[in-house]
Amino acid sequence: MNKLSIVGAGIVGEAAAQIIAREEFCRELMLIDVQGELAQGKALDLWQAAVESGSDTRVYGGANAELLQDSDLVVITAGVPRKPGQSRQDVLSINLPILDSIMRDINRHAPAATVLVVSNPVDVLTYRACSLSGLGRKRVFGQAGVLDTARMKCFIAEETGFSARDITALVLGGHGDSMVPLMRYCAVGSVPLAHFLSDQQIERIVRRTRQGGGEILGLKKVGSACDAPGVAIAEMVDAIAKGRNRILPTVAILEGEYGRTGIAMGVPCVLGELGVARVIELPLDAQEQGKRSINPTKLNMGGALS
Ligand code: LAC
Repeated sequence: MNKLSIVGAGIVGEAAAQIIAREEFCRELMLIDVQGELAQGKALDLWQAAVESGSDTRVYGGANAELLQDSDLVVITAGVPRKPGQSRQDVLSINLPILDSIMRDINRHAPAATVLVVSNPVDVLTYRACSLSGLGRKRVFGQAGVLDTARMKCFIAEETGFSARDITALVLGGHGDSMVPLMRYCAVGSVPLAHFLSDQQIERIVRRTRQGGGEILGLKKVGSACDAPGVAIAEMVDAIAKGRNRILPTVAILEGEYGRTGIAMGVPCVLGELGVARVIELPLDAQEQGKRSINPTKLNMGGALS
């Protein structure tokens, strides 16, 4: 990948940038933030850190939207994080106009760039970003499930005592309390989780995964999780930059899959060079269907950007 831009040089954007630069996922990494000098300072620091790791990725920063020019991929992390006690939905009124303005900048300066939305509420903002872009759902999608499954893997490792390396997990639905961990598809060393854990233990894992972001926020008080979200972004960027065709939970616009149309929610997708190559529709059993009440607020604001 030639150029990747991250809009929002806060703690999540910075954590992602650190890995992306170190792992040389792109030739040029641009950090863009309304606080231009802060972005420039962080970029210099990250560039120097990358060089120390033997990477030739050049990191630059600033505030000017023109810096988006020629981006192959734009990652959006800008916006305010929620405060303890708030839901992700509570920051919508602040983050929606920020997202709109970023999409306007992308449409003007990097209209061919693939867009990965991370800012919250990610389901709603991904839907909005896709409707404001002419690129369609293959090229505009969001990150949530990679983070949520990482959290679930931690709790499964803790509950079973087994290595997290051997754990596979899958979540569906919205990023939040309405997410649906699909325990049937969770396994340790290919052995279904139910072989090792009781219903009660599994329920405990599910509950903690749903509240994973809130648990960290409640403890940190200021600022949300950043390191695990940063790694999750880097994992998706890696799949795109290297054209891996990985199956990763991705916030995608549904076109009839799972009986839904015109909403964005987390579903397993094939992620590769061209973005979302395919949405994978899994059969849900009656219980999972019931939990699928996940309805990441359908935004009906319509309208193209002027
Ligand atoms: C979380 C935020 C970043 O889940 O959505 O930690």
